[in-house]
Amino acid sequence: MTDAPQHITAEMFEALKQAFDNSQVMFELGERAYRSLQEEVKNVNLELERKNIELQKSLAEREALEREVLQAKTMAALGEMSATVAHEIRNPLGAMGVWAGLLERDLEPGDPRRKTLGKITDGLAKLNKIVLNLLVYTRPISTEFRRVRLDALLDEIADFTEIEIERLGRDITVEKNFTAAEKPYVIMADPEKMNQAIINLCLNAVQAMEDGGTLRVELGEKREDGGENVDDANDAGGNNYIMFSVSDTGSGIDREHLKKIFDPFFTTKEDGTGLGLAIVKKIIESHHGRIDIKSEVGIGTEVICYLPYSEDK
Ligand SMILES: Nc1ncnc2c1ncn2[C@@H]1O[C@H](COP(=O)(O)OP(=O)(O)OP(=O)(O)O)[C@@H](O)[C@H]1O
Ligand SMILES: [Mg+2]
Repeated sequence: MTDAPQHITAEMFEALKQAFDNSQVMFELGERAYRSLQEEVKNVNLELERKNIELQKSLAEREALEREVLQAKTMAALGEMSATVAHEIRNPLGAMGVWAGLLERDLEPGDPRRKTLGKITDGLAKLNKIVLNLLVYTRPISTEFRRVRLDALLDEIADFTEIEIERLGRDITVEKNFTAAEKPYVIMADPEKMNQAIINLCLNAVQAMEDGGTLRVELGEKREDGGENVDDANDAGGNNYIMFSVSDTGSGIDREHLKKIFDPFFTTKEDGTGLGLAIVKKIIESHHGRIDIKSEVGIGTEVICYLPYSEDK
């Protein structure tokens, strides 16, 4: 805007000029406000997207949790049912064993019916094993733990395993290595259950070495090279962890099987119940311990257990 045209007064011209300048400022302000609003909308959209992803994630987590709870409930109901069934069939099973024994006594040594009877008693023995394992698996573990010397317990079980190896006539050497443990480790435990867990591990090791090998029982503090759990071998409560392991130079376990070995009833053995390791896991975890397994096909297997212990016990 330069000079005012003739028919417009100077005042009018000034007012128009002022109005024009003002409108330009308004326009700029409006544009700035629009841009910042646009930015805000973009941010809100981004935030919405992020929240949406979070929501989807927590929904998926919730669904997974619900599935887990349902699975736990089903397992608990199944456990209860199997415990009841196991309990109910224990007595008739025992009686059948007694009757089969009496029948066997009545048969002459060369009687061909002995073979048939043998099949019946083999079946009974397997059923008995399933029933006993089911009862161990489903029964609650004592909460009143006693002081147990882990080195003495391992020593005793290693000796028992040697007797079993002899009975089976296998060429297996049992090695005990308790030297890494400087002192007799006393843990608070249910001695019977802990005994059962270690025996299960030793029996698995023996069964994996059909052609002989070495079974090693070890006791020590945390492992330098150990499994995944070693980094936190000292827990937040200041507990120390004692480690014991049972290893063999047997068949080893392939990857696919390794994922399932702690599942109840998973077995690759004709006369196995598949409850051995499920029982071991339950026992170790009820002692606030952890279990780790390393295995290589054709080389062997090592099961490592960590249990908390405290110096002043
Ligand atoms: N030391 C081992 N070496 C090789 N395979 C093993 C070893 N320990 C366990 N397994 C595998 O894991 C499976 C499950 O073991 P688990 O002890 O639970 O049951 P099981 O030994 O088959 O039966 P049970 O313990 O009732 O006699 C075994 O069938 C076997 O395939
Ligand atoms: Mg077993």
